[in-house]
Amino acid sequence: MSLTSLVAGFALLLAAPAAHAADPPLRDLGTAKGKVIGTAVTGSKLTGTYGDIAGAQFSSLTPGNAMKWGSVEPAQGSFNWTEADQIVAFAQAHNQQVRGHTLVWHSQNPSWLTNGSWTSAQLGTLLQNHINTEVGRYQGKIAAWDVVNEPFNEDGTYRSTLWYNGLGADYIANALTWARAADPAAKLYINDYNVEGVNAKSTALYNLVKSLKDRGVPIDGVGLQAHLILGQVPSTLQQNIQRFADLGVDVAITELDIRMTLPSDSTKLAQQKADYKAVTAACVAVARCVNLTVWGFTDSDSWVESTFPGQGAATPYDANYAPKPAYYGIAEALGGTSTPPPTGACTASYSVGSQWNTGFTGNVTISCSGASLSSWKVTWTYGAGQQITQAWNATCTQSGAAVSCANASYNGTVPDGGSVSFGFNASWSGSNPVPTVTLG
Ligand code: XIL
Repeated sequence: MSLTSLVAGFALLLAAPAAHAADPPLRDLGTAKGKVIGTAVTGSKLTGTYGDIAGAQFSSLTPGNAMKWGSVEPAQGSFNWTEADQIVAFAQAHNQQVRGHTLVWHSQNPSWLTNGSWTSAQLGTLLQNHINTEVGRYQGKIAAWDVVNEPFNEDGTYRSTLWYNGLGADYIANALTWARAADPAAKLYINDYNVEGVNAKSTALYNLVKSLKDRGVPIDGVGLQAHLILGQVPSTLQQNIQRFADLGVDVAITELDIRMTLPSDSTKLAQQKADYKAVTAACVAVARCVNLTVWGFTDSDSWVESTFPGQGAATPYDANYAPKPAYYGIAEALGGTSTPPPTGACTASYSVGSQWNTGFTGNVTISCSGASLSSWKVTWTYGAGQQITQAWNATCTQSGAAVSCANASYNGTVPDGGSVSFGFNASWSGSNPVPTVTLG
């Protein structure tokens, strides 16, 4: 090898980029895979860090509540478009799509509507006017509308609602037809939950979409909400997405969140990462899965805590806007390669306090940062014949050189950012080296 090529080789090595350079934002990773990556948002929060992340990471926004009937027409004939307009303007300023959510639902309707007593004809007129007004207002600005939300029961029968009871099953076909007329460019969806895997409910949705298509009713896609439970991504998710794609409609994951029993810990966060990655990978695997939207990107803006008591931490960012392992699960499934920063951990440290000719007092502190514990056990092996005689704030046993100390009944919990200590007396002779402790 010549000197020059040797030197060139070195130069190349030195010039190599630092390993694990930060990935592009999710929206760019998504674009490279042909996927739009979205989040539900609250309009009033779209400033500061929340606004920065919403704008930088996502290529689609869904108003979490702002476009629901109860939000836009709180009194009959009196409209409030403020938050919806704000979200649409933010999206346009950040080159983002908007998913309109939602036109026909049994929930979050204005009380004047739900408390009124309407003939079937009046109800039909109210619904048609609502769709005309709202879809018309945003005509050309909405990529896709969740036209009908949550029409099914778990067993696949139609949910008994204001709409079904008053108008019959064809309220769905009519709503789609009216939405198409008001904005021919918007993709029209039916959206529901517990339809992620192949089951009775998703099969009912499948059969409905098939019959709508057979009848020539405009239907462009199905939304799988995906409000999931930790460790419970349906094994048939990809198969289910594929069967809708094969029917000739698009699929969107519209409201993804993955809740866990609080408090979160590093094991749960790792499982959540795997779950987010699995859902994203299932969408990546099917070309017609066009959009993956999380229902709030931060744990500080999620419906989960207030809706499912004791559950939470369901989104890809923590409440302080730090990306969680879940974020990297999405990124990895989209082809990202950056190594996540080390996740939180709990550690134990051992120290010798006072020491006299035959004995000493020891202390162990368990500290957590970015993680937490609900119980703990610390073990170590003495190297110089030390023998524990008494412990407090822990239950310690010693067998030969091996020591094991477990939490007392009252101090098993170590919160994120907190610590717990216990102490003991022990004998020693000759020397008293500090052992390596293990937190198990
Ligand atoms: C939720 C919102 O996130 C909450 O803020 C609100 O209090 C209730 O509705 N399925 C849907 C969404 O289609 O509209 C719901 O959003 C969550 C379940």
